Formats: sequence, structure tokens, C-alpha cells
Amino acid sequence: MKDILQVLEDRRHEARLGGGQKRIDAQHAKGKLTARERVDLLLDEGSFEEFDMFKTHRCTDFGMEEQKLYGDGVITGWGTVNGRQVYVFAQDFTVLGGSVSATHAQKICKIMDMAMQNGAPVIGLNDSGGARIQEGVDSLAGYGEVFQRNIEASGVIPQISVIMGPCAGGAVYSPAMTDFIFMVRDSSYMFVTGPDVVKTVTNEQVTAEELGGASTHTRKSSVADAAFENDVEALAEVRRLVDFLPLNNREKPPVRPFFDSPERIEPSLDTLVPDNANTPYDMKELIVKLADEGDFYELQAEFAGNIITGFIRLEGRTVGVVANQPMVLAGCLDIDSSRKAARFVRFCDAFEIPILTLVDVPGFLPGTSQEYGGVIKHGAKLLFAYGEATVPKVTVITRKAYGGAYDVMSSKHLRGDFNYAWPTAEIAVMGAKGATEILYRSELGDPEKIAQRAQDYEDRFANPFVAAERGFIDEVIQPHGTRRRLCRAFASLRKKAHSGPWKKHDNIPL
Ligand code: HXC
Repeated sequence: MKDILQVLEDRRHEARLGGGQKRIDAQHAKGKLTARERVDLLLDEGSFEEFDMFKTHRCTDFGMEEQKLYGDGVITGWGTVNGRQVYVFAQDFTVLGGSVSATHAQKICKIMDMAMQNGAPVIGLNDSGGARIQEGVDSLAGYGEVFQRNIEASGVIPQISVIMGPCAGGAVYSPAMTDFIFMVRDSSYMFVTGPDVVKTVTNEQVTAEELGGASTHTRKSSVADAAFENDVEALAEVRRLVDFLPLNNREKPPVRPFFDSPERIEPSLDTLVPDNANTPYDMKELIVKLADEGDFYELQAEFAGNIITGFIRLEGRTVGVVANQPMVLAGCLDIDSSRKAARFVRFCDAFEIPILTLVDVPGFLPGTSQEYGGVIKHGAKLLFAYGEATVPKVTVITRKAYGGAYDVMSSKHLRGDFNYAWPTAEIAVMGAKGATEILYRSELGDPEKIAQRAQDYEDRFANPFVAAERGFIDEVIQPHGTRRRLCRAFASLRKKAHSGPWKKHDNIPL
């Protein structure tokens, strides 16, 4: 009996070594952790339960029968993050470069199926040379099975991807369909075709880092939601994100202990908005001052800075925040900011996370690049996302809410539940200068007259009271009491129920 127990231990030891010590050392030399080390950091200590540790591939082409390693390049199983269940797969680059074989894919599919069945998130740690070249179409079939599960799981359980090494070719499409993508600086990259193919086809010379590294995808393409310095930081931040999320679409987000009074008054907010309507201020200051303990989890911080997206907690409960940022492009809406915010709003709605919208928007960004780029369709995404969202929606207009952007930013007309405005709010079709130049074109030669006209327009519209008179604003509130108002508003909406007409699904302008 003792011998048999020892056999198991020996096999486990072998499996834990993956591709062997030499390859483990090579992985470390690149500044990367091994798949097992990553799983250990991601999950609560001792919580990992592994599946399919001894699974091997069944390929016999190209001498592969000689290269059978336990686990077949991916470690799969489940564990907990701060006591809450998650499923995880971690590709093991030390085994055949973490390449995806039919059995490798089956292992991922198994935990995805279990995650769906049991209602828990899937976290994928990607570090792979792509399709297992020796397996040909079997590998592609395996990817296809994973893709199909990504699609079915979308909106049912949160899916998080962390890119911690190569992720190239069609392999990028699995992370691309998950809810969040994180990358590690200088050791991860994602692209559909690599630098060599790019050179051959387009004659462009570009490094892997330039083509698909972390800064490219967090700043230019917006494929990734955030980038971190190393594996340890990335995994710690994934744990922090999981704490904000519900485990599935039938569960409410977690309620965490909080020490910050919902009644907290913030007198500094009374002077946040500058006297001059054209002077910017930092909307992040408002977000942090509203949040429990000032804790804000920002997503896509380096892309489309004119809109801010991320999670805070109010009374310990997760709230998704969308906020115009007057410090960047005056906080206007454009193609990038509309896309960024729309996807975030849809995530929140799919997972029953209430949405707080902070508005200071002068309108949509004008210009040919915007029109040629399809700002009409992209702006419509945000409008559509807000209008279809049935989660509690609370809006605070701090300053400008001009034109179509007023309607878009979770206005009353898109079934906002609470629409507040600060006394500094200006709700109008456009700013006073633009308005008078159109209305009184014939008087443009007379600066005094025009200045008076602009003043009249401002007196009439540069305030929240016209909208409040019509009930489009539910209440004009003092800035210092905003946190208290928001906590009470969201608390009153905890049982919100809404059902629209039956449809198979909508047709959001993609
Ligand atoms: C089988 C692979 C492999 C692969 C790497 N290896 N990629 N084995 N299939 N796709 C093996 C290597 O042979 C090597 O084995 C070990 O993994 C480590 O690889 P190295 O090349 O030594 O590592 P490194 O120098 O860090 O380079 C990493 C790499 C490179 C850039 C990823 O390995 C590479 O270019 N691989 C091929 C990438 C590729 O073209 N994949 C197919 C893409 S198409 P030993 O035994 O020496 O340790 C695709 C389509 C997916 O993925 C479609 C989905 C629909």
C-alpha cells in the first residue's frame, strides 16, 4: 500500500515539474513566474484543487509520442479568491511552449463548463506559443471549442484574461471575448500576425513589443484594460478586481465590510467646480471622495482619458462609475470614449452592477476624423447601452450637459432612476457663445450686443433649474452632500425590477 501511495507522490512530483527544471529556470530568467507559481499567487493559500494533472496528449505525429508530459501545457482547476470560488487555467510555457493541443483545449473546456454550471468566474492566465503545430487541425478544433464557450459564458459568468507571455494568431480571440484583459509590461504581447508576417505583407518594420505589447494595447488599441509591472502585481490586481464582481449573473455583487460613513459630508466638493466654465478640474477627485474609503478600481485608465470607467463601493456594495473627465479634451464624447464607456455599461448591466454617471460634457468632438471614423455609430453604442441597461442608474450633473451628450449620459429620458444636478450644472443645447453666434449671426459685427446676448442666454440656460422645472432633474443637490444622497439613492433601488418587451436579442449598433 505504501508503495502505491508513493507512486502517486512521485507522479505528482513529476507533473509539478512541468517541462523540467531547465525550462523553469529559463522562465524565471525572463522575469516570468511558472504557471503553478502564478496559480498559487492568484488563489487563497491552499485553496487550489487541480483537475487533470496527469492528462497527456494523444498525438503521434512528428515524434510526439516521445514528448508526453503530464498536464499537457496547462494547469486547470478551481480555488478561492478571498473565500469566493473561481475557476482557473494557467498555460505552462515550460511544456511545449504552452502550445494548445486537443487535450490542452479539453482541459480548459472542462473547467469552463464547470464554471458555467456552478456559477463562478473563469480566470485564464495566458502564456502560449499558440496552436500546437504538430497537431494541426485538432488544435484549431480545440480553440474553436474554447471560443464557443467564451461566447456562451459571456454575460453569465465574469471571464478575466491575464496575458503573461505570448498570445498570438487566432489564439488572441479567446481573451478578446472575455470581459477583462490584463497584461504584464515587457513580457506579454498579443497580435493576430507577428512582426515577420507584417514585414512580409506590408513592409512595415515593427518589434513585437511595439506591435502588441502592453503599452500598445492599453494606450492605442484599447484591447487591454490595464497593464502591470510584473506577474505578482498583475495577479494581486486580479484578486482586487474579483472582490468587486458578482460570481455570476444571478447573484448580486458581494457586500464588503466598510468603515466609511454613508453620511460623510465632503465640504471640499463645494469648490470643486471652478468659477470659469472653461477651466478644467479633476473628476477623479470627485470619484475618490464619493467612494467608500476612497477605493477606486479604474479600467482603461490610459485610453480615452476623456471618460473614466471603473468600480467603487458605496456602503460596501459595488457601483460601476462612468464619468466625463474635463481634464482631457474638455470631457467631450468621441469615438474612443463612447466605445470604452459603452462596453463598461454593458458589463455592469449584464452582471447587475448599479451604475453611477458623473456628467460634465460639452458635447461630441467635431471633425472629419470623427465623422469618417463613424462617431455616429460609436456614439450610438453608448446611448444604446445606457438605454437598455435596467440596473439602478443614478446620475449627477456637475457642470456641462450640452446637446445630444446630455441625453446620452444616462439622462432621465433613458430611464435614469435618480437624476441629480449640482447648482453649478448647465443643461442646454450648447454653450452660450456657440448659441448666440447661431441665433444672432446678423449681430456678430457688434461685440457689445453679442456679449449681452450671450449673457442673456447664460442667465436663462447655464443652470440646472430649467431642467428641474420640467422634472428632467429630480433634485438639485449640494455638492458636499453627494455621497449621502448617492448611498440613499442606491439603497432605495436595491429591489428594482424592470422588464422590457420580449425579444431574442437587441441589435446594438456594432
Ligand atoms: C509546438 C511549440 C510551439 C507551438 C513553441 N513551442 N511554440 N511547440 N507548437 N506553437 C515549443 C518550442 O519548440 C520550444 O520547445 C518551446 O516551446 C519553447 O519555445 P522557444 O521558441 O524556445 O521559446 P521562445 O524563444 O521564448 O519563443 C516563443 C515563441 C516561439 C515566440 C512563442 O516559440 C514561436 O514563435 N512559436 C511558434 C508560434 C506560432 O507560430 N504558433 C502558431 C501560431 S498560429 P523546446 O522543446 O525547444 O523547449 C496559431 C493559430 C491559432 O496559434 C488559431 C486559433 C483559431
